Amino acid sequence: MAESRRSFYLQQLKSRLEFYQEIGLEGLFLKPHLSQEPPQTYSEEDVSQPETKAVKESPTNSYAAESPQSLSLFEEDYSQMSTDESLEKIRQDIGDCQRCKLCSTRTHIVFGSGNPEARLVFVGEAPGADEDAQGLPFVGRAGQLLTKIIESINLKREDVYICNVIKCRPPNNRFPEKDEISTCSPFLLRQLEVIKPKIVCCLGAAAAQTILKTKSSVGWIRGRFQDYRGAKLIVTYHPAYLLRNPEAKKDVWEDMKRIKALLESN
Ligand code: URA
Repeated sequence: MAESRRSFYLQQLKSRLEFYQEIGLEGLFLKPHLSQEPPQTYSEEDVSQPETKAVKESPTNSYAAESPQSLSLFEEDYSQMSTDESLEKIRQDIGDCQRCKLCSTRTHIVFGSGNPEARLVFVGEAPGADEDAQGLPFVGRAGQLLTKIIESINLKREDVYICNVIKCRPPNNRFPEKDEISTCSPFLLRQLEVIKPKIVCCLGAAAAQTILKTKSSVGWIRGRFQDYRGAKLIVTYHPAYLLRNPEAKKDVWEDMKRIKALLESN
């Protein structure tokens, strides 16, 4: 193997191991049937040229609202967005929201936090108990893991913007219901329109299925960029899923490398 290629592979391996260490992955396992095959690493081309492929559909259950009145009204006519649109105005419009039943059990509306001009936006599902208590997204255990993931690509939380599909905590952290998503997600879409990030990273199925209006599972659509209203959108596993399934962290690392490469590409 040419020396430069060998050192490229070593560098890739080193940064992958550092990422695993950083996000607390314990124990590395080599699948026996892979041990005889060539290394499954990235070529330089893969790293510098993230791919854009069409999403393939797969039959799965979903968060994609079937006929969300408020969502389609907003999505079909972005031109109706006011010219003085801003994050502050969106927050004002939300007000002391009573639009869905979650208002009766929430403590705080969790609007979103971070850099209003972020080039990278992470979209999660819904606030949990810690987020509901503090009014901030991703501050619990899953949030701490998200912070490590962000830092693994040499960014800080303050560099990115973090928000959720719905802004109030569902009781007992149950999945958001379709009416809650269709009522609340137009505010998320407006946030994305204002921030105009270069990259949107959907954390988990709720974000992916709501924004892309697909029923595909995360496993099916993750790992490749898609076009979303002038941005590149990538889907990856939710940090809470990673806490339960640490073996999926390696896939998230691949997705983070794609994001890093695209951010650095121009
Ligand atoms: N999970 C989410 O999806 N969002 C949060 O803000 C916290 C946990």
